Amino acid sequence: MPRLLVINSSGRNTRSITRRLTGQFAEHWLAAHPKGELIERDVTLQRPTPVDEAWIASAFAPPEARSQAMQAALSESEALLAEIEAADALVFGVPMYNFGLPAQLKAYFDQIIRVNRSFTFDPEAAEPYQPLLADKPTTVIVSVGDGDLLPGGPMAELNFLEPHLTTMLGFIGLRSLEFVRVGYEEFQDGRLKRALESAEQAVARRVVAL
Ligand SMILES: Cc1cc2nc3c(=O)[nH]c(=O)nc-3n(C[C@H](O)[C@H](O)[C@H](O)COP(=O)(O)O)c2cc1C
Repeated sequence: MPRLLVINSSGRNTRSITRRLTGQFAEHWLAAHPKGELIERDVTLQRPTPVDEAWIASAFAPPEARSQAMQAALSESEALLAEIEAADALVFGVPMYNFGLPAQLKAYFDQIIRVNRSFTFDPEAAEPYQPLLADKPTTVIVSVGDGDLLPGGPMAELNFLEPHLTTMLGFIGLRSLEFVRVGYEEFQDGRLKRALESAEQAVARRVVAL
């Protein structure tokens, strides 16, 4: 049974553009996969725990040397990684907050980017970092208040969100990546309407191409 993992991160539960578009993505995907299953991960409603001393000590200990308490410190990370591994495709909804990603989504990435679990590090190797997750189609739906921050726009150099997401996802192996973007959420004029229409079409096209 095909599975789609839907990850939302907007702090808004109503009026959210990214939630609306991940919802449309899921509807199109279910129409294309009537026997498919949605896995929903909402990092605002169920906030990932920021990593701490116990998590770090456990993550860097060899698996065979981990006590039960150490294993417990990684149980959330394991569960989040298992969700990704069980999915055939992923869709993220990501608002831009202060030129980057929401803190709750950063906590999610800190949980899933883990040495010898989602990537390897060998300082002697020609390529010291290798991803460990299987690649799968990953769609990132981004909404920003000011569309001038989007790629090609006059303020694009201030967009730290997309390079950061691309780097983190690619680092663990998720490289078949496509962004769907909505600009001008804070400009309640024709530009927002046009951006939304174009994003809705991009979402429908992406699902067909999966
Ligand atoms: C805390 C916060 C920080 C924001 N920072 C930015 C920003 O740096 N640049 C920008 O263009 N828009 C910014 N915005 C606007 C959001 O990116 C925009 O409202 C987006 O549509 C939010 O996604 P959502 O509609 O899914 O909630 C910010 C909004 C909030 C709430």
